[in-house]
Amino acid sequence: MTGFAEVEKTLKFPTNTVQPRPGEHPAHIGEGPASEFYRLSMPSTDAPAHTRLRKLVAPAFQPRAVTRMRSWVEELIIAGLDELSQHDGEVDFVHDFAMKVPARIACRLLHAPMEDAGTVLQRVPALNAIFSQSDLTSEQLAEADEVAQFYFDYIGDIVDTLRGKVGDDDAVGALINAEAAGDRLSRNELVVTLVGFFIASYHTTMMAMTNVVNSTARFPDQYRLLAGDPTLAAAAWEENLRFDTPIHFLWRYAGEGLELDGTPIPQGSHLLLGLAAANRDPRRFDNPDVFDLSRPDNRHLSFTAGSHYCIGAPLSRLEGDILLRELPKRLPNLEVLEENPPRFPDLIFPTITRLTVAPQGR
Ligand code: HEM
Repeated sequence: MTGFAEVEKTLKFPTNTVQPRPGEHPAHIGEGPASEFYRLSMPSTDAPAHTRLRKLVAPAFQPRAVTRMRSWVEELIIAGLDELSQHDGEVDFVHDFAMKVPARIACRLLHAPMEDAGTVLQRVPALNAIFSQSDLTSEQLAEADEVAQFYFDYIGDIVDTLRGKVGDDDAVGALINAEAAGDRLSRNELVVTLVGFFIASYHTTMMAMTNVVNSTARFPDQYRLLAGDPTLAAAAWEENLRFDTPIHFLWRYAGEGLELDGTPIPQGSHLLLGLAAANRDPRRFDNPDVFDLSRPDNRHLSFTAGSHYCIGAPLSRLEGDILLRELPKRLPNLEVLEENPPRFPDLIFPTITRLTVAPQGR
C-alpha cells in the first residue's frame, strides 16, 4: 500500500492489529532471544498489553519531560558539530557524526557509560532485521539472537545498578519503579522496553541526521534559507522526515470491517504499508519530490499515526531543531561530495552507509 490516504486509514483503523491473531507471531522470528524481543516490543504488541505499556512509558516523552532534556541534548549535538568542524578535508558524515551523536544521546538517555557510545550500538541493524516482514537466513536469525541477548544483558545490568537510585521524572527511572511496584510490568517487559528505547532512539536518529545533510546539500538554496533563518529549523526537520522517510515500510493485519477505496479487505490480510511512498504521494503533497522548507500542511507519516504513533517523536523533534539551528551556523560551507550515497539493502531501514562531506567546503 503506497497512497497516503490508504496508509493513514490503515494505521488508524481501530480493529487492525500488529499480530496475525492474538498471541500469534510470524515464523521468521524463531524462538530465541530475538523472538522474545519481538514479542514483547511495543511495535509488535496489541491491546491490552500494548495499552498498559504505552500508559507507563508515555509520561517520560511528553513535551514537558522532553524540554527538560534540552540542555544535555544540545551539549552533545554541539560537541559533535565542533568535532566535525575540526576537519578541513573530507570526512564521512555517517561515521564521524551521525553514528556518534545519536549513540551518545542514547547512552545518556539509558544511563549507559558514555565511553561505550563508540561501540555498543553498532550491532543494532542485526537485531532490527527481526522486524523485517520477510524470511531471515539462519545466519541472520542466529546473529539477531546473539545481539538480542547481548542487549538484554547490557541493559539488565544498568537496571540492576540504577534500581532505587532514579526518580519517576527520568524515562528509565519511571519504568524501573513501575516494575519494582510489582503489578504493572514484568522484568522481561522492562528490559525489552528499555532495549527498545536504546535502539529506536539511536538508529532512526542516525538515519534522519544523515538524510537531512544529504537532502539540504542537494537543495543548496534551502540550506542558505535555513542559515538565514534558524526559526525554520523545526520545519526543515519535518520536511526531512517527509522527503527521506527513515522507516520505509511497516506492517499491519487487517481487522474486521476494513475497506480501502471501496474494496473490502479480508480479515487477517498481512498489509505492507509504504510510509516513504505515502510521504511522496502527489495526491497529498504538491511537488512531492522537491525538498521545500516552506511547505504548508506538512503532516507526514514518518512517525506513523494511531495507537503506535512514535513515542519518541518529541525527542526526535528536539534533536532536529537543535541540529538544524546549529549546523548551518557552524558549517555554512558544508558540501556533500557523494552523488549517490550507498544504502544498506533493507526494505524497512534503507540506511545511508556512507556520506562523504567537506565540512568547510571544497
Ligand atoms: C527520526 C526519528 C524517529 C523516527 C523516524 C521514528 C519512527 C517510528 C515509527 C514509524 C514508529 C511506529 C511503529 C508502528 O507504528 O508500528 C515508532 C514507534 C516508536 N518509537 Fe520512534 N522514531 C524515531 C525516534 C524515536 C526516538 C528518539 C525514540 C526514543 C526512545 C523512539 C521510540 C519509539 C517507541 C518506544 C516506539 C513504539 C511505540 C508503540 O508501538 O506504541 N523513536 N517510531
